[in-house]
Amino acid sequence: MSTQSVELDGMGSLRRTFKCGDIMQASVGDEVVLAGWVNNRRDHGGVIFVDLRDKSGTVQVVFRPESAPEAHERAHRLRNEWVLMVRGEIESRSDDTVNPNMPTGTIEVNVRELRILNAATVPPFAIDEETEVDEQTRLKNRLHDLRRPPLQRALQFRHDLSQAVRASLNAQDFIEIETPMLSRATPEGARDFLVPSRLQPGDFYALPQSPQIMKQLFMIAGCDRYYQIARCFRDEDQRADRQLEFTQVDLELSFVGVEEILTVLEKVTVEGSRSCGVELEAPFKRITYADALDRYGSDKPDTRILLELVDLTDVFMTSEFKAFRGVAEDGGIVKALPIPNAKELSRGEIDRLEKQMRKELGAKGLGWIRVEEDGEWKSPITKFLGDPEKDAIRERCKTEPGMVIFFQADKRDRANTILSRLREDLGVKLGRVDGRDWDALLVVDFPLLEPNEAGQLTYVHQPFVAPVEEDLHLLDTDPEKVRGTHYDVVLNGTELGSGSLRNHRADIQRKILGLMGYGEEEMRQSFGFMLDALEIGAPPHGGFAFGFDRWVMKLAGLDNLRDVIPFPKTQRGQDLLLEAPSTVEADQLDELSLRVRLQKKSDD
Ligand code: AMO
Ligand code: AMP
Repeated sequence: MSTQSVELDGMGSLRRTFKCGDIMQASVGDEVVLAGWVNNRRDHGGVIFVDLRDKSGTVQVVFRPESAPEAHERAHRLRNEWVLMVRGEIESRSDDTVNPNMPTGTIEVNVRELRILNAATVPPFAIDEETEVDEQTRLKNRLHDLRRPPLQRALQFRHDLSQAVRASLNAQDFIEIETPMLSRATPEGARDFLVPSRLQPGDFYALPQSPQIMKQLFMIAGCDRYYQIARCFRDEDQRADRQLEFTQVDLELSFVGVEEILTVLEKVTVEGSRSCGVELEAPFKRITYADALDRYGSDKPDTRILLELVDLTDVFMTSEFKAFRGVAEDGGIVKALPIPNAKELSRGEIDRLEKQMRKELGAKGLGWIRVEEDGEWKSPITKFLGDPEKDAIRERCKTEPGMVIFFQADKRDRANTILSRLREDLGVKLGRVDGRDWDALLVVDFPLLEPNEAGQLTYVHQPFVAPVEEDLHLLDTDPEKVRGTHYDVVLNGTELGSGSLRNHRADIQRKILGLMGYGEEEMRQSFGFMLDALEIGAPPHGGFAFGFDRWVMKLAGLDNLRDVIPFPKTQRGQDLLLEAPSTVEADQLDELSLRVRLQKKSDD
């Protein structure tokens, strides 16, 4: 689409005197010079009205044939998104033309001089807040989208938050240091993005999944307190709260224990959030990992939702109900979600929930009991229940008329995930919430290690987490019982960030890598430089990383990272504006000693 041919002007000696949205700071009768984009143009037989928009807001400018014939004549040609500069006087609008929906709606600018600085192609959608536009179109036309108020607000939030975080950390004696992007693989558990080396043919750099190793090296190098607003790269499946490329507020401190770090984190979280208009109450509530899973089925619960889960595994160990007993005997769990006063949950709604849980989370079923007005139970599972189970349900779920109880018997993770999801969805839908706007929570006492699917112990957070000191002796006897020093900050049910103390002693780090199945050789290969660094006099240290984009997203009340990142990637990892990723020239591949061999799809 080419722009309409029109004679363009330079700014000449005209200079902007006010931003459009700040015009109320001037007075009626003042001459002002404004600049911006045509938000819309209305031709009212003789008089032409233009809403002129810049970053600060919009103001109506008026072209009258009698006061500026030349400008009025040229104003006929103006179209949306053209770029203008105008000089004119501020005038009051008459009572009947005041626009109460516009902050500048009591005045207008009577234009004397018009400069058309640029023309523009027809915009793909209206540059306003109200018009609904599908996301694909917004991402393809990201620059138009960025002109709209929601993304402008998000960019301002990013700025305000990063400045406040810097101020808070600077005041707490941290220094900001950068770390390399062309780096080695770091162990955050996702796939690496690799960058081929031209100078070392066949070798690759890895883009950092986080600055984890580098910040530990800074502590060993004597930096004492480091932070960085760092880009991180993780080649993992995209979700609403995951991007391939994202930002962390990353920090690390020496000679501290968990409590000192948590104090720093609370201060930064409160001061950062305040810069975006959110007041959090410190100290934050704390919950242990075990308690969070037990009561809420999630290690990042939204505790504003009042519903809690109930464990019944022990009761079903001896039950006649084979489906549930089998799960309990195989090391799974049986848990319930009682919802008092849930008459509005119809049978149809329950069936829909069962289908949804089967489809989205792989549920094997969704057992339920409804307690009728007369205390009778209506349920597809009561026929399988004996008196001991019924008594336990009555007692632990505190059954009462109107209650609906959901059941899950499954592997621990899945049963918890399903019930946690029901808890959050139904809690919000049925209004079982405590009315607080913000819920900041510290989750502590995560286990250090857990078995993976193959039964091999692996890290819960990352391989450098230090064990809780009192549990050190268990490393030899009962490693699964060892608590890590890992903590999370959770805001309204979203994990904002994670951290821990680290192993500063090489012997303990080796022992933990050994428990995770690393032989001496592999240990050297993957972590040799780290183990060597620990041998040169590493101080006790620990730290944390906030997911910066997630933090902005929560503060802005949004639920998708793409709405707070200026140039995000789609679900399929594409930047629709830049059309990245893209193929490259054969020469470029040659230089890098690379050859592309596309894998054939199996159905080809
Ligand atoms: P972790 O891997 O938990 O810890 O990451 C810290 C925080 O970063 C955010 N985050 C993401 N945000 C957007 N897209 C992603 N793909 C993504 N992945 C993670 C989350 C998360 O809580 N080095 C450790 C921190 C430490 O121990 O100091 C680390 O990176 O909000
Ligand atoms: P079935 O005997 O398979 O028809 O199941 C009886 C009831 O128990 C149905 O309402 C199922 O949805 C439910 N159910 C079956 N398996 C499970 C399970 N593992 N967890 C929770 N509910 C289940």
